Amino acid sequence: MTSPHVKLDIDATREKLDALGLGYANEALDALLAEAVSIEMPAHQFLERLLDTERAGREERRIKTMLKTSKIPTGQTLENFDFAFQPAIERSRIETLATGAWIRNAEVILLQGPPGVGKSHLLVGLGIRAIQLGFSVQYYRFDELLTAIKADGDLPPTRLKSRKYMSSSLLLIDEMGFDPMNLEEAGLFFRLVSYRYARGAMIITTNKSIRDWTELIAGDEVLAAAILDRLLHRSHVLNIKGRSYRLRDLEELLTKQSA
Ligand SMILES: Nc1ncnc2c1ncn2[C@@H]1O[C@H](COP(=O)(O)OP(=O)(O)O)[C@@H](O)[C@H]1O
Ligand SMILES: [Mg+2]
Repeated sequence: MTSPHVKLDIDATREKLDALGLGYANEALDALLAEAVSIEMPAHQFLERLLDTERAGREERRIKTMLKTSKIPTGQTLENFDFAFQPAIERSRIETLATGAWIRNAEVILLQGPPGVGKSHLLVGLGIRAIQLGFSVQYYRFDELLTAIKADGDLPPTRLKSRKYMSSSLLLIDEMGFDPMNLEEAGLFFRLVSYRYARGAMIITTNKSIRDWTELIAGDEVLAAAILDRLLHRSHVLNIKGRSYRLRDLEELLTKQSA
């Protein structure tokens, strides 16, 4: 039974927790106090539990917010990637990358291969993992990125630096290579790659192999070489050959029919 004056104390405590912005601790206070009294929890353990609750609540909120603002598509994770289906990708290599050390070192992952082999899935999965690790992440399809950097073409460097495609710890660029860039776009893309070089990590997915990049970069060999030089210097190139995951059911059906 709580006496009236104990209740009053709790209200005062709640008010203070609220004033300090400790909303999750505030929410958990009643239940945790009841538990503490019933099992005679040591004071220090009670405090730990209360602070852990606050921290876990904040962490969950941070991840939710970051997932939204990063524009990462949802649903694809490293956990639901079927490594058995895709032997070109070694699980251990992805697990190493999933620790995030390469992001701290501002390195680049280039995922190359034909449609449907899981390039975007891995980009999204590694991106989500990066958010869980606490990195700032921003997702663009390549055409969206071009639109954004063209719109910012005249911005002075000081303002450009604060753009998310420049400032994020990890920039995700999905589906590069469907359309070749014109010279203006290639120049702006070079500026982005140069700025991020050794400053920020990137993952790029592309259906074009490196030897076709000149064609992709406005047919300009010098610019293509300069861009590739910066991208490949500290990079992890993952070539995914293999079968299309999208077409696996169709393949099975056809095998059954021909059997
Ligand atoms: N190894 C895999 N395990 C589970 N799902 C996969 C795998 N590879 C591809 N997929 C799924 O197949 C679809 C196509 O993959 P996606 O990553 O978009 O291919 P890509 O970007 O290479 O064209 C997506 O829905 C993706 O989640
Ligand atoms: Mg894709």
